[in-house]
Order: sequence, then C-alpha cells, then structure tokens
Amino acid sequence: MVVDNLDILYEQYTIRNRIETIAHFLNEDYKDDDNVVLLCVLKGAVNFFSDLALMLSFDAEYEFVGVKSYEGTETTGDPCLTTELPNLEGKKVLIVEDIVDTGLTANYLKSLLQEAADDVKLCTLLSKPSRRIIDIEPDYVAFEIDDLFVVGYGLDYNQKYRNLPYIAVLENSTQTRANLGTINYNNNVNQQ
Ligand code: IMP
Ligand code: MG
Repeated sequence: MVVDNLDILYEQYTIRNRIETIAHFLNEDYKDDDNVVLLCVLKGAVNFFSDLALMLSFDAEYEFVGVKSYEGTETTGDPCLTTELPNLEGKKVLIVEDIVDTGLTANYLKSLLQEAADDVKLCTLLSKPSRRIIDIEPDYVAFEIDDLFVVGYGLDYNQKYRNLPYIAVLENSTQTRANLGTINYNNNVNQQ
C-alpha cells in the first residue's frame, strides 16, 4: 500500500511554541544543576532534541543512543540498544524521545539508565496514553495525541517523512498500523 496523504496535526509554529514551554519548565527544574546530560534517542528525536537544546539556559552535555524496539516478525516488544551506552556516572540524564507509544522502549531505556546514572527523567515530543501496555508516565510531554500514526519532525513511516517541518497524521492511519504490524515493524519503522 502506498500512503501519501497527510493531514497536518501540528504546524511548525505550534510545535515551536510547545517546545518553548517545555524548555521553560526544564530551565526552572535544572537551573541549579551542572551535571545534566541530554540523551537523544535516535533517529526520531533528532529534530526535537536539537530545537529543545538551543532553548535551554543551563549547561547540558549531548549524548546519543540507538534503541531498536522490535525484532523478528512479531511485535511482542523486546527493545535492545543498537549503540553503546555512554558513561553516565554521576549525571542527571534527560532522555529526549520522539514518541512514547506502548511505552516499552522508554521503559527499557529508563530502567537501564537508572542503574547507570544519578537521576533519569523522560521528555517526549509526543505521547499516546491510550496505547500504553506498560505503566510509564513521561516527566515532560509536548503533545498528548490519540491513537494515530504520525510522521514528520523526525518521525518516520518506513524511514520517510522525517524531514517534514510539521507533524502529520497518515491518512487511513488504522490501515497503516495494520500494515506496519504485519510487514514493517520487523524491519525499520520502529528502528529509531
Ligand atoms: P513504544 O511502542 O513506546 O516502544 O515506541 C516505539 C517506537 O515506535 C517509537 O520510538 C517510534 O519510533 C515508533 N512509533 C510509535 N508510534 C509512532 C508513530 O505514530 N509514528 C512514527 N513512529 C512511531
Ligand atoms: Mg523513539
């Protein structure tokens, strides 16, 4: 199935405004800290990470990590790292994610980091609470959305649409998800 019809959900200026708000909270919460690491979850969070980081007024180091969410032909959820974890000893880590969907990826990463760092918080551009299969509450959320498959601003469908400057819903999202479930989840859609 070729999916090319996009419905804009959030325009670029709306996203920017929300990121400014998140940055405002972070600037308050981390104002006394000098050991903060912003951990970008590749690839989907790159645009959010980059825009957010430039709005922060405290010193923050950059680190990057790759997580693969699904492996094999089943979407049972068995996340694993695709890059080495940086040394985060003594650091306050802010995980910067594109989207928290079922919560499996974020939960896996958070649990892993809790053993490696002093403090771990989760900041995400998007969250789909109705899709959770694991109880995880991000500390900072730019947008809560319904059960829709979205692309743009870093998020992809089959590695496509990442560089759209807005967030859009793939038309016929339900069909797209079914399609992803059987064909693409085992390939690269869920590989950040
Ligand atoms: P999880 O289900 O919370 O573990 O999310 C796994 C990954 O699925 C996310 O990090 C995204 O890369 C991808 N994902 C989930 N929902 C969407 C979506 O609506 N658009 C694009 N990617 C998505
Ligand atoms: Mg992600």
